[in-house]
Amino acid sequence: MSQKLALLGGTPLRNEPFPSWPVFGQAEEKRLLRVLHSGKWGRLDGPEVAEFEHRFAAAHGCKHGIAMVNGTVSLRIALMAAGIPAEAEVIVPPYTFFSTASAVIEANMIPVFADVNLETFNLDPKAVEAAITSRTRAIIPVHFAGQPADMNRIMAIAKKHKLLVIEDAAHAHGANYRNRPAGSLGHIASFSFQSSKNMTSGEGGILTTNDDALAAACRSIHNCGRIPTGVWYEHHVISGNYRLGEFQGAILNTQLDRLETQTKTRDRNGKYLAARLSKLPGIHTQKRPADCTRHSYHLLMLRIDGAKFGAPRAAVIKALKAEGVPCSAGYGFSLHQQPLFRNQAFGPYLPKASARLNYRKVSCPNSDLICREQCVWLEQSFFLGNRADMDDIAHAFEKVYENREALNRWAAKS
Ligand SMILES: Cc1ncc(COP(=O)(O)O)c(C=O)c1O
Repeated sequence: MSQKLALLGGTPLRNEPFPSWPVFGQAEEKRLLRVLHSGKWGRLDGPEVAEFEHRFAAAHGCKHGIAMVNGTVSLRIALMAAGIPAEAEVIVPPYTFFSTASAVIEANMIPVFADVNLETFNLDPKAVEAAITSRTRAIIPVHFAGQPADMNRIMAIAKKHKLLVIEDAAHAHGANYRNRPAGSLGHIASFSFQSSKNMTSGEGGILTTNDDALAAACRSIHNCGRIPTGVWYEHHVISGNYRLGEFQGAILNTQLDRLETQTKTRDRNGKYLAARLSKLPGIHTQKRPADCTRHSYHLLMLRIDGAKFGAPRAAVIKALKAEGVPCSAGYGFSLHQQPLFRNQAFGPYLPKASARLNYRKVSCPNSDLICREQCVWLEQSFFLGNRADMDDIAHAFEKVYENREALNRWAAKS
């Protein structure tokens, strides 16, 4: 029998913290000060955001990059730019952050939830096909946790039904699918630079695309409806000011310099740890198809089958935390079960369609099971560590497994 669990009064396996996030240094300081002293702080005054757009797009296999204030607005702008009519349907997964669906509503379109695959945690192409109606106009696959969705099948479905594909690549900076970068796999893609993301400027987002017309429309919408040949007070389309500022552009330029090395490290460590953890009974790490040639490990995700592992997820998470391995259960329930959807609190959006919608009837059992009972998340910065860090995480899981009976008794009492 291994040592007593820290949760039950034993010694924690680890006391040192895992690598912290964000990573920054003199390069960020230098660029930020250069912007400060230049006095050119806005997108339209200085060179930083323009340089970043160009470099980030190129690094993700695209001609165009349009940086903006966050990765929620960028999803909405992609939908608006595509000229999709009001109250058309857009297929989204239920296992994702709020924005993948809220952006659809804020573009006055209807999110239709198609379930995820229980092994990959990504949108299931079969569920997508089943969700298509005469009103469907777009699909938003999420490359969840940094593993590209099943893009060949999704693009084939999109082609057959003439649908737009917007990649939600908020987790997938630097990820590859069949050696092609996430961000270049659909018609247009959206990334986030919010604090937790694999590249960050605190807040921020970008759209990437190889479609000239879509890029021009997005650029105009993110800049008050201006067009390149127009004068300053000339506005061609309903939109807003969603431009990113130069301080964030400066940080992102330096973060981008770090991305390749960081992504290689995360992928190497994530792969190693996933292989070790999947040896434990009842642990199912995110299944990685051969198509995923690089995982960006925004999260290492796994399912715990409590019956097979021998202890329920909530107790396992508590025990892991006590051993010095911070982790979480992620979303508590599927997106369509959020009060927003249950109560159809859509504000001024979807005035006609709301009457015939009923999100309480949506059925996505895989997503529900993952959320309610099984999922565990480990965050990206851990994977910037070394092999010994990965071994510590693996040992913590092993220790919890070996002590599962004591943990179960504790869980039954508390
Ligand atoms: C899958 C997904 N999509 C979109 C977003 C939205 O990005 P942001 O927070 O930059 O608005 C997030 C961010 O948390 C996300 O996780």
